[in-house]
Amino acid sequence: MVTPISLVFLVFAVAIASVDCNFEGDALYAWKTKLVDPNGVLQSWDPNLVNPCTWYHVTCDNDNSVTRVDLGNAGLSGILVPQLGALSNLQYLEVYGNNISGVIQTVIGNLTTLISLDLYQNHLSGIIPSSLGNLVSLRFLRLNSNKLSGVIPAELLQLVRLGNLMILNVSDNQLVGSVHRTNTRKFAVTTIIQDPRAQK
Ligand SMILES: *[C@@H]1O[C@H](CO)[C@@H](O)[C@H](O)[C@H]1NC(C)=O
Ligand SMILES: *[C@@H]1O[C@H](CO)[C@@H](O)[C@H](O)[C@H]1NC(C)=O
Ligand SMILES: *[C@@H]1O[C@H](CO)[C@@H](O)[C@H](O)[C@H]1NC(C)=O
Repeated sequence: MVTPISLVFLVFAVAIASVDCNFEGDALYAWKTKLVDPNGVLQSWDPNLVNPCTWYHVTCDNDNSVTRVDLGNAGLSGILVPQLGALSNLQYLEVYGNNISGVIQTVIGNLTTLISLDLYQNHLSGIIPSSLGNLVSLRFLRLNSNKLSGVIPAELLQLVRLGNLMILNVSDNQLVGSVHRTNTRKFAVTTIIQDPRAQK
């Protein structure tokens, strides 16, 4: 039965949902302002639309929340921004094969629904944040061919032990240190690819 009270609740629920959507659109638009886009792949990213779900290279779920951002080989330069941490239902962040520089933001570790994080073949530098160890749903983590330094964080290797992660490619960076052999029982389902000189 639809009572006036439940209608009021419905109106509030819809209002809250649309605030969330604008929040995600604002986050993506904040990223766009930090990107150089010579091919115009972000032309449809119009912050005046009610949500980002009609933008090219963005996919949403039925609640108009962003689940995919597909910007592989898009010719983009610029940085990753901390606002990306607001995309709370993001499953695929595909930004490989661009000219993205700067650091992997710690807040990427807030995106706990991520299944695939593909940042390979860019110019990312700095460390691999230990916060990536929070990404318990992650199956593919490809950071290869960047300028990342430091060691693979222990927190990330904990993720390997959980058994969801299938591919961890950190090859062709400037990493130091080593991980245990990939074929022991503990690492059975994960293929860890790193440079020969960083291995045991
Ligand atoms: C990320 O998570 C931390 C701790 O859980 C929180 O303090 C922070 O506000 C979050 N950042 C974003 C952008 O959601
Ligand atoms: C890559 O980005 C740098 C700045 O970070 C810029 O100087 C360079 O022109 C860019 N290269 C290409 C191919 O876009
Ligand atoms: C891992 O990264 C290296 C360097 O970018 C690449 O040559 C190799 O094909 C990658 N392997 C897999 C399985 O993705």
